[in-house]
Amino acid sequence: MATIIDGKKTSQDIKNEIATRVAEIKTEGGKIPHLAAILVGNDGASQTYVGAKVKACHEIGFESTLVRLDETISEEELLAKVEEINANPDIDGLIVQLPLPKHISVEKVTDKIKPEKDVDGFTPSNVGRMALNWPAYVAATPYGIVELLKRYNIETSGKHCVVIGRSHIVGSPMSILMARNGYPGNATVTLTHSRTQNLKEIAQTADILIVALGKPEFVTADMVKPGAVVIDVGIHRVEDASKKSGFRLIGDVKFDEVAEKASAITPVPGGVGPMTIASLLYNTLLAAEKKVYG
Ligand code: GUN
Repeated sequence: MATIIDGKKTSQDIKNEIATRVAEIKTEGGKIPHLAAILVGNDGASQTYVGAKVKACHEIGFESTLVRLDETISEEELLAKVEEINANPDIDGLIVQLPLPKHISVEKVTDKIKPEKDVDGFTPSNVGRMALNWPAYVAATPYGIVELLKRYNIETSGKHCVVIGRSHIVGSPMSILMARNGYPGNATVTLTHSRTQNLKEIAQTADILIVALGKPEFVTADMVKPGAVVIDVGIHRVEDASKKSGFRLIGDVKFDEVAEKASAITPVPGGVGPMTIASLLYNTLLAAEKKVYG
């Protein structure tokens, strides 16, 4: 049976570390980190995520501002709001919760965020800096995975890492981070996607398998090498009448059978998911202390 990589505990450890630093900053009379989040419209999942981010800020002693905007807001008005926050010296980090309504260009809005405040790590500047192995805000999910690998002392140098999924926010940056010269990194990386042929055979050669394609229980035990480390980024609701909520959460990996074969695995829930908020808070602390852009 594999080691269960506990993202819930690890994210709490990181939050405690950040809270300790915030308490020190307060004692030193320094700048309290301040995160602003813009939420457009009434999407249920987005409201839950943003609510959790604001709550986490409160728990660790950060200041936060939630800007709620109507779904009918124009692109121009949203861009003006981003500029206003860019120019506000009290705010260290800014996130615009995605998805945005269809009439608004995600690219235009992302590009408007000042890179120094882009604690989601979504702007071209931060993606480029990450790829160059410069100081950067790394996006929440890839950064969360990097921290889990580090804190569980998982060897990555010289290993074959197979990433399934090439999204801008997970698969693609993960492939860059695993290949870079450092730890975690120095892996031989294969980035696979919907056009990949022989995916099963490639997955079977992975020492580290990072699964972020968004298909429930896609990875089965026959796709996994004995002793592999398996990181599951997927999260899906499935109906379950035995639960009070009427549903349960599953990942992109068939957990029970893969856990029998892997040496370490992240569960869903309680694996990668909880790490994303810890990453965002960490980036906001870096922003307040001017550790990335100086
Ligand atoms: N929507 C889903 N994930 C994210 C995220 O990490 N940041 C933002 N801004 N929106 C999201």
